[in-house]
Amino acid sequence: MAGGDVEAHYTKDGLYQRIMDALAAIGKDIGNLTPGDLDPVEHFHGRGVAATAEMAKSLNPKPGDEILDIGSGIGGPARYVARTYGCSVVGIDLTAEFCATARRLNGDVGLADKVQIEQGSATDLPFEDGRFDAAYSQNVSMNIADKAAYFGEAFRVLRPGGLFALSDIGLGDGADVLYPVPWSSDGVYSFLLTEQETIAAAEKAGFEVLSVKDHTPVSLQFYQSQRENAARGDIPKLGVFILMGDNAKEKGRNSARNIEEGRVRPLEFVCRRS
Ligand SMILES: C[S@@+](CC[C@H](N)C(=O)[O-])C[C@H]1O[C@@H](n2cnc3c(N)ncnc32)[C@H](O)[C@@H]1O
Repeated sequence: MAGGDVEAHYTKDGLYQRIMDALAAIGKDIGNLTPGDLDPVEHFHGRGVAATAEMAKSLNPKPGDEILDIGSGIGGPARYVARTYGCSVVGIDLTAEFCATARRLNGDVGLADKVQIEQGSATDLPFEDGRFDAAYSQNVSMNIADKAAYFGEAFRVLRPGGLFALSDIGLGDGADVLYPVPWSSDGVYSFLLTEQETIAAAEKAGFEVLSVKDHTPVSLQFYQSQRENAARGDIPKLGVFILMGDNAKEKGRNSARNIEEGRVRPLEFVCRRS
């Protein structure tokens, strides 16, 4: 596999069909899907579509802008940005299975002309300098050891003045991170930085860091409401657990505990290319 261990971690054969089966199980007409039907399953990060909406607002793209999604997963955030802001989005992701699924879902919801998906690495982007009006990357950098290449490539492909929004699981000041988590089974390809280290890496690439938000409080509320739903027997049939494999429950529990115990901090940075 081109992406090695990281790609193997994310690859779930038959993913598209499993998503279709889950949609059918909750009564969706899979021949006539609307973009919102996919919301519960396609935003592969804490707090789902709500987090994507906040991130997109911080970029505030204009119709006709061209936006880059670095580590686009199965394309949920890219489709959200394209349909909400009327711009075009190019997504790039390491995992072939996710790229193939993203392309099929683009077609299923009528967004194939607005969202283009490429397979490749964030550390070696196949795009010319200054191409994009803005870029974002949600819960991807944790998998990337070479932060200089990650920030350097994002900087290179943005036009001067372009914004880069980054959501990240940062290292907290609690005990060691518990694994498995959604981005790593055992910590081998997990490269977490503290808030200050991320700011330093972004600045070293030339970015000006405009804002940093710590989403710990809203993330704790999110996990609490999920627990309350589960206690009431309200177990969703469609969700990002479909992307996480057999140990999805354990990954979800560890994600919540890691935040509750200060082992990690969910952070969002907005940077500007000078
Ligand atoms: C937790 S998922 C997030 C997906 C998407 N950003 C979202 O929020 O729905 C992490 C994604 O990062 C991708 N990824 C990890 N390392 C990457 C790299 N070096 N280049 C491109 N994509 C990468 C994985 O393939 C996976 O799709």
